[in-house]
Amino acid sequence: MSKRLLIKNVNEIVTCSGFKQKKGKEMSDLHIINDGAILIEDGIIKKVGNNEAVLKEIDTSEIDIIDAKDRCVLPGFIDPHTHFVFGGYRAEEYGWRLRGVNYMEIMNRGGGIVNSTNSTKEATLEELIEAGMKRLDSMVSFGVTTVEGKSGYGLDLDTEIKQLEAMKKLNETHPLDISTTFLGAHAVPKEYKGRENEFIDYIIEKVLPEVAKRNLAEFCDIFCEDNVFSIEQSRKLLSKAKEFGLKPKLHADEIVPLGGAELSAELEAISADHLLQASDEGIKLMAKNNVVATLLPGTAFSLKEKYARARDIIDAGCAVALATDMNPGSCFTESIPLIIALATLYMNMTTEETINALTINAAAALDKADKIGSIDVGKKADLVIHEFPSYNYIPYHIGVSTVEKVIKNGNIIYS
Ligand code: NIG
Ligand code: FE
Repeated sequence: MSKRLLIKNVNEIVTCSGFKQKKGKEMSDLHIINDGAILIEDGIIKKVGNNEAVLKEIDTSEIDIIDAKDRCVLPGFIDPHTHFVFGGYRAEEYGWRLRGVNYMEIMNRGGGIVNSTNSTKEATLEELIEAGMKRLDSMVSFGVTTVEGKSGYGLDLDTEIKQLEAMKKLNETHPLDISTTFLGAHAVPKEYKGRENEFIDYIIEKVLPEVAKRNLAEFCDIFCEDNVFSIEQSRKLLSKAKEFGLKPKLHADEIVPLGGAELSAELEAISADHLLQASDEGIKLMAKNNVVATLLPGTAFSLKEKYARARDIIDAGCAVALATDMNPGSCFTESIPLIIALATLYMNMTTEETINALTINAAAALDKADKIGSIDVGKKADLVIHEFPSYNYIPYHIGVSTVEKVIKNGNIIYS
């Protein structure tokens, strides 16, 4: 007997319908069903449509029912860029930044990513899993049903593998789905300062093959930035990663306009992320080659940087996704309501664009728009019931979670 769940009398179902990324103007459409119902069978969406029509078609004996009167239902949010597995914290750096020391200065002084690398090396696998579990629980409370997580606080074989193993274990034990990304080239370790090419060769020869052999990551990412890794080094690593079957992603054009957006198009990357300084030409090329622009307003906010040009990027025909960038340095938050507030108020995105950016386009940024990110028949039943009758209340209740119930694979995991 299959397990069935019916969500009925929904005031507004925001389906975000679609099986691939929404580009440019397509991001304005949420494909709403008023007075609707959703039938879930064995964790998969079986029917979605008008309430009366769905109810008429089904046998309601032996079925769990949720009455969602005066509520809206959205796809679960997807957070497609985080660094949520790490040891230690860097609270003192926040204070330094308030006193005017900038992020790159902190990094050049041996703080920043390298600081987290030391504490991640010291942490045991179990400690990383325990801390990761708490952060995932926090994400669920904001309506997140799938999250991407990066390594990159190891910068050596054992610690990179330990971080990825922690995510593998969390994926098996926590209800959230985790997409993993190998970010071995996240910073230059002290012992490789001035020998960046040698470090990239070490990552390519020693770490990447092991990550691929153990099937520990779906994507490969790099911090492509002035004073970190160059365009040539990024091209070299990501091309090699592709040969190993890892799909490319980039931290691109965050602090200076280096040409990361252009490189992401050349490599046909799944996404290029940050993009605060991306050039017009780079943006155009990304649109042409279907690279998702994953924007991270929480980081710009936390580092007091200017925001990415979301309006220009959407108007150029790109698919924009949004993510928290949750990490111990530049943006220590799991808060989706914060991201929504920043995107709507400071990046001039409409509410509709913001919601598509956190659902179907976030799924596309994980190469999973065929399985998650919208309320369509055949997709995973990853849904959130919000406490208000319409999606318009979500940004309006500034900085506060409107989540009432989270349904993952057809099971209520938060209420
Ligand atoms: O996306 N820019 C590089 N990586 C992270 C920051 C990681 C950290 O500071 O620990 C980011 O902002
Ligand atoms: Fe990041």
